[in-house]
Amino acid sequence: MADKRTYLILFGAQGSGKGTQARMLQEWLGVPQVATGDLFRANMGQGTELGKLARSYMDRGELVPDSVTVEMVRDRLSQPDAAKGAIFDGFPRNLAQAEALDAMLAQWGTGIKAAVYIQLDRDQLMKRIMGRRTCKNCQAVYHVEFNPPKMDGVCDACGGEVVQRADDADEVAVARRLDIYFEQTTPVIDYYRGKKLLKEVDGSLNIEGVQQAMRSAIKPKPVRKAKPIARPVKKASKKAKPVKRVPAKKAATKKATRK
Ligand code: AP5
Ligand code: MG
Ligand code: ZN
Repeated sequence: MADKRTYLILFGAQGSGKGTQARMLQEWLGVPQVATGDLFRANMGQGTELGKLARSYMDRGELVPDSVTVEMVRDRLSQPDAAKGAIFDGFPRNLAQAEALDAMLAQWGTGIKAAVYIQLDRDQLMKRIMGRRTCKNCQAVYHVEFNPPKMDGVCDACGGEVVQRADDADEVAVARRLDIYFEQTTPVIDYYRGKKLLKEVDGSLNIEGVQQAMRSAIKPKPVRKAKPIARPVKKASKKAKPVKRVPAKKAATKKATRK
């Protein structure tokens, strides 16, 4: 029987837009975002032991130990809403995590469907990180210039307080995160490229543009047996256009942003 689960990985340096895009993909793919950074921050907010441990690494811009991170992901994936898959955001971040994830999914008789790499240069990354604001409550992501909340300091989604992330305020820690990313995560990208699962998208487009590029790169498996498209062919004028693949749930992307 075909595997109906969808496990997708989003790669990209800090500030490339993984969180922003993962949130938009959730509804379309019908699987939740699993963002290790968000999970650590939620634990920090609740003052758990895991949160205390994570904070000591995150404030320095360093990676939380693999064993802790992998167990947290395993636990998250065992929750009912993740039964059909997940969109990984910020995980795996090094080869040990990638191998642990592969082993975990193999145990469950499944695997990664695709890994999407959002590319952006360092100057733009810094600009995005420095202007980012995040909801303290639901972790929705905003940007002071590119994507501000409707009301200053208030989350559109939940009314929570919108603040700057602690690890974004410190330029040294931000630079360190970027260094670690290029050093440790680049080999993971090559790892998935080697498995022919990597799709690359241009992260310098606006938020909607990146989302569209991602959706056409992922081309999810048809949800049901695709109906043969038997539309009458329009009178062929000039040259025939290449057939554009339109995702099944295109309607779901209907913009809420129409003024
Ligand atoms: P994590 O929370 O994953 O942070 P990160 O890797 O630093 O990634 P970011 O969240 O900074 O970037 P993003 O790509 O999500 O960008 P966003 O959508 O916000 O990790 C934090 C820490 O946790 C790590 O340093 C580590 O300590 C620990 N950790 C996490 N995972 C771990 C793991 N697996 N192992 C070990 N440790 C781990 O967008 C950025 C900004 O740009 C926003 O303001 C947004 O509004 C704006 N924006 C987005 N897209 C666009 C666009 N197209 N145009 C204009 N603006 C845009
Ligand atoms: Mg993020
Ligand atoms: Zn919120």
